[in-house]
Amino acid sequence: MRVSIIGSGYVGMITGMGFVKLGNEVIFLDVDEEKVQMINEGRAPIYEEGLEELMTEYREKYRATNDYREAILNSDVTFICVGTPSREDGSIDLRFVESASKEIGKALGDKEDFHVVVVKSTVVPGTTEGVVKPILEEQSGKMAFKDFGLAMNPEFLREGVALKDFLNPDRIVLGVKDERTKDVLEKLYSPIDAPKVVTDIKTAEMIKYASNAFLATKISFANEIGNICKKLGIDSWKVFEGVGLDHRISPHFFRSGLGFGGSCFPKDVKAIIKKAEEVGEEPVLLKAVIEVNERQPIKLIELLKRHVPELKGRKIGVLGLAFKPNTDDVRETRAYPVIRRLLEEGAEVIAYDPKAMRNFRKFYPDVGERIDYAESPREILEKAKVVLILTEWPEFEWLDYSKKIVIDGRRIQRAERTAEVYEGLCW
Ligand code: UDX
Repeated sequence: MRVSIIGSGYVGMITGMGFVKLGNEVIFLDVDEEKVQMINEGRAPIYEEGLEELMTEYREKYRATNDYREAILNSDVTFICVGTPSREDGSIDLRFVESASKEIGKALGDKEDFHVVVVKSTVVPGTTEGVVKPILEEQSGKMAFKDFGLAMNPEFLREGVALKDFLNPDRIVLGVKDERTKDVLEKLYSPIDAPKVVTDIKTAEMIKYASNAFLATKISFANEIGNICKKLGIDSWKVFEGVGLDHRISPHFFRSGLGFGGSCFPKDVKAIIKKAEEVGEEPVLLKAVIEVNERQPIKLIELLKRHVPELKGRKIGVLGLAFKPNTDDVRETRAYPVIRRLLEEGAEVIAYDPKAMRNFRKFYPDVGERIDYAESPREILEKAKVVLILTEWPEFEWLDYSKKIVIDGRRIQRAERTAEVYEGLCW
């Protein structure tokens, strides 16, 4: 099939190249001329493991443009993969979804064949039919589900393993209304061997939020129990090993510690809280999930102060700035609130991260420009007696922590075994 992808960011690139790998031809669209050029030169505009190799291997199967007409007229299915950032109040900003729908709608007006538009961007329930559909209809002069297809197909990609997730998903969710669209999507995804859940459109939108809210809840639950365990002298990881063996619970995604960051969990939980309030529901549990998550960095500082009561003028080494290992992404990283607090208390901070130092400095200039950066993790241990571990990069397992005070938010076993003083956040 011929697929067009609107928005050549993270989700767009993985989805598009995933479809290329499945044997389709793909046109990427982006308003950013630099991204278009990079893709046309076979280079990846975002970093993800295996992406550039795939782009090299399938060079003749994709191209990029900034012209909507060209993308729509030369494809059968269009995926909207633009960002849905958070507004100040936690609700999602639909600006990019709206402008993409408008341009797609205009081009659809000139299209003779049946065309399917699929929303892949994470949008709160009701958006595809309440926002995207009227814009497409108005701009094209055509009717959704009759003259053109419209569907919602959420993504569940994890950074670092996103291509694998695309090709081997736990499930594929297809939110559809008309048979023709359903057939097109089922055909497109037919090479992938995974359960396909076919629902109406707003259920598909909700499945994405409910999935992420559940995983975030599981982490905050692990952290709340973990905090209680810490006070009682119990290792919460051992507790969750025992708990996770209950097949109704599962051992995955049960690591207590510094909490969740990244581009999805904080944003999605806040957006569904906002939507709940909008419809007159008080999301008590979801609000607590965010609150527990925001407290974990403070807990880490409290533990630190047990051993170093006065932070003013103290040099503190920080290992890890990325929101999780194997990425340079610092969005909502728990390292930010920790380091901000250290600076507020007058500490001197030296940090190291294998991939995320540049991004940290750029995204959080208020903090990022006031700290020193080390060339290697070893330099942190040479220069600081007190070390905080904020991201579990595998290479932190190979350091010498003897004679150090280590406060660990992620559990690096080597530090636990060898540090002079060691405190784990929830163990
Ligand atoms: C997540 C979802 O997994 C994915 O399905 C969704 O589409 C996007 O959001 P991602 O943000 O890439 O993916 O990272 P993930 O590996 O899920 O981790 C998210 C955060 O939770 C990280 O900060 C991680 O450190 C934290 N985490 C994860 C825990 O604290 N404990 C765990 O047990 C698992």
